[in-house]
Amino acid sequence: MLQIYPDQESLSQAAAGLFVRLATNCVQARGRFSVVLSGGATPRRTYELLAQPPFRDRVTWSRIHVFWGDERCVPLDDPRSNAGMAREALLKRVPIPQVQIHPMLCGPSPEAAALAYEEALRSWFAGPPRFDLIFLGLGVDGHTASLFPGEARLLEGERWVAAVHPPGRDLPRITLTPVIINQAEVVAFLVAGADKAAILKETLQGPGEPRRLPAQLIKPLTGEIYWLVDQSAADF
Ligand code: 6PG
Repeated sequence: MLQIYPDQESLSQAAAGLFVRLATNCVQARGRFSVVLSGGATPRRTYELLAQPPFRDRVTWSRIHVFWGDERCVPLDDPRSNAGMAREALLKRVPIPQVQIHPMLCGPSPEAAALAYEEALRSWFAGPPRFDLIFLGLGVDGHTASLFPGEARLLEGERWVAAVHPPGRDLPRITLTPVIINQAEVVAFLVAGADKAAILKETLQGPGEPRRLPAQLIKPLTGEIYWLVDQSAADF
């Protein structure tokens, strides 16, 4: 469902509230909450809000397990690292056990790292990979996670995690694939800014062109999908 907020702050407040609500329900029901964080600029404020009252104190951090939807192949302390951003904005500010934080570590071979992350997910889930919540963003070119236009091989196959070398971008990346994303209980896109209005309109209202608009590949099989957008991104 599409939820439009006046500005990025209220969008971020809503996203933090969704995290708290789902985490509370999952911990009560199953004793743990698995969440996939997105990178980029948009989710940063949501992470900062979760690191401070009132949201911080409403989460049982000892039961939270954090994963990533994608990662650039850079060291954790590189400003381009998605895990590094989340660590600065949130993870070093809350009492979450380190063993419950699962960054995508690229190393010398993105392909080997993707396989390793997939193996780690297979053992962690010990069954269907049903993340409780996956945060995603939307790039102005229509990408989400690191599923970029033209990455045809991501449209098929059974892989849960893939290494990608996006054309025109300097860094190899690792990304969850639609196969695993679409098994989530809840997928929440966070989209803000006037520069996203055109691509958001195409993605939501345009014809199905998943090769050109990879975010259209995200259709949870049984779970829910939320589009949390601010007014300027929704002005179309
Ligand atoms: C990444 C992100 C990516 C992001 C979009 C939107 O590693 O770049 O995971 O998929 O969500 O590029 O980024 P912004 O929020 O910065 O617009």
